[in-house]
Amino acid sequence: MAKTKTTFICQNCGSVYSRWQGKCDACGEWNTIVEENTSGGIGGGPQRGAARKGRPAALLPLSGEIEEAPRIVSGIGELDRATGGGIVRGSALLVGGDPGIGKSTLLMQAAAALARRGHRVVYVSGEEAVAQIRLRAQRLLAADTDVQLLAETNVEDILATLAEERRPDLVIVDSIQTLWSDLADSSPGTVTQVRAGAQAMIRYAKASGAAVILVGHVTKEGQIAGPRVVEHMVDGVLYFEGEGGHHFRILRTVKNRFGPTDEIGVFEMSDIGLREVSNPSELFLGERNASAPGAAVFAGMEGTRPVLVEIQALVAPSALGTPRRAVVGWDQPRLAMVLAVLEAHCGVRLGQHDVYLNVAGGFRIGEPAADLAVAAALVSSLSGSALPGDSVYFGEISLSGAVRPVAHAAQRLKEAEKLGFHQAVLPGISPDVPRSREMRTREVEALPDLVAIVAGGRASHDE
Ligand code: TYD
Ligand code: MG
Repeated sequence: MAKTKTTFICQNCGSVYSRWQGKCDACGEWNTIVEENTSGGIGGGPQRGAARKGRPAALLPLSGEIEEAPRIVSGIGELDRATGGGIVRGSALLVGGDPGIGKSTLLMQAAAALARRGHRVVYVSGEEAVAQIRLRAQRLLAADTDVQLLAETNVEDILATLAEERRPDLVIVDSIQTLWSDLADSSPGTVTQVRAGAQAMIRYAKASGAAVILVGHVTKEGQIAGPRVVEHMVDGVLYFEGEGGHHFRILRTVKNRFGPTDEIGVFEMSDIGLREVSNPSELFLGERNASAPGAAVFAGMEGTRPVLVEIQALVAPSALGTPRRAVVGWDQPRLAMVLAVLEAHCGVRLGQHDVYLNVAGGFRIGEPAADLAVAAALVSSLSGSALPGDSVYFGEISLSGAVRPVAHAAQRLKEAEKLGFHQAVLPGISPDVPRSREMRTREVEALPDLVAIVAGGRASHDE
C-alpha cells in the first residue's frame, strides 16, 4: 500500500511546502497554506505504479495543413469579441471574477443564446439548486430555450452524464470551486481538488471536441482556492470585472490561445440581466459635466477598440502635513510621477495640495497614454478654469517632461470625432496619420506646452 503522504499547499498560488508556514513565500499571501493529502490520484502527480514502457509518437514537421479553429458564435457581440470571434470547439475557457459580479448571469445568457442557435448546451451547477437556476433563467427571459441543467459536483458523475447523450457543443461548469473528484483525497474546494476537477474537464474538452467554460471565483483575500492554478491549464482566461456601485461590467481577455488578448467586452447590468454596450465611450461619457474644472476626456485604447473616458481631478489646499493623494481607476505611482514632472519642469506646485483623481464610471485605465489627460485635469482643477468641452487628450509623459507619442493615434482621433469632439491635444504624430478638417489637433512636445494651453483658460485651444 502506498504510504499516505501529506503536503502543504498554498490555496492561492498552488506552491507546495513540506511543512506548514504562515506566509507563502511564492505569492506573499498569509494563512493560505493548507495541509492536503496528495498520495496517489491526479493531485499526487504521475502515478507511482509499475514503470510503463513508453510508446513512440510520430514527429511532425512545422509546416503542413492548418485547420481554422472551428468556433461557436453566441451572437452576443461583446462576448464573441472577448473570446476572439467565438468559443473554439474542444477548448477550455476560464471565466473568473468576484462573487456576485454576474458570472452566472452572463453564462446563462450565453447558454440561452447558443441554444437558440441550435447548439446543445449543458449547464452544470454545483452552487445553486435547479429551482434557483430556473428562476434566474426566467428573469433573463431564457427559460424557453433548451439549455440542459445538471446539478452535480462530482466530476466522474458529470462526465458519465455527458457521455450518455449526444456530445454537447458547450459545457458550462459553475463553479470549479465546487467540483470534486474521487481520484483526489483532499476536501472539496482545495487546490488539489480544483486542479483535479479542472484537469478532468479540460481532458474531456480535448477528447470530445466540446467547448468547456469553467467559472471560478477570485477573492481578494485568496481564501478560496484560487483559479490561478487553473489559468495555466486552460486555453483562454476571461475576467469579469466591475466596480461596486456601478452597473456596468467588463469582460477582459487575459489569455487566449486562439485570438488576441487585451480585448474587452462591455456590459450593463439591468434587472433583466446583462445588456451589451457596443459603444462604451457613450456610456463612460454619459453623465459628463463639461463645464466643471478638473475634468479631461482621455482618448484611450482597450485592445483593438478606442474608448473615451473622463478623468476627473480635484486639487485642493491641504490642511495636513503630508497632503493626501487618492486615486481611483488609475495607477498611484503613475500619478506621483505626473505630479513630480509638473512640479520639476512646469513650476506647478502641488506639494501643499491634496490631490484626488478619479476615472469616471468606475473604469480602470492601464495605459501610460493617459498621462497627458491626467496632467490636463490636474492643471485645470488647480487653475479653476474648465477645459473646452469638445477636446480630448492623450500622450505619455516622460520624466524629462517630454510628451511621447503613443500607438493608434489615428484610431483615437477617429473615435473622438465620431463622438462629436472637435479638438485634440496630443504628442507630435507621424505625418501619415490622416488629418481631418473636423478635428483640430494641437501637438505638444513637452509638458510646459500643455500647461500653457490649459492655464490660458480659453474656451478653445485654438491659437
Ligand atoms: P450572479 O450572476 O449570480 O453573480 P456570480 O455568478 O458572479 O456570483 O449575479 C449576481 C448579481 O447580479 C446579484 O447581486 C443580482 C444581480 N442581477 C441583476 O441585477 N439582474 C439580473 O437580471 C440578475 C439575474 C442578477
Ligand atoms: Mg454564480
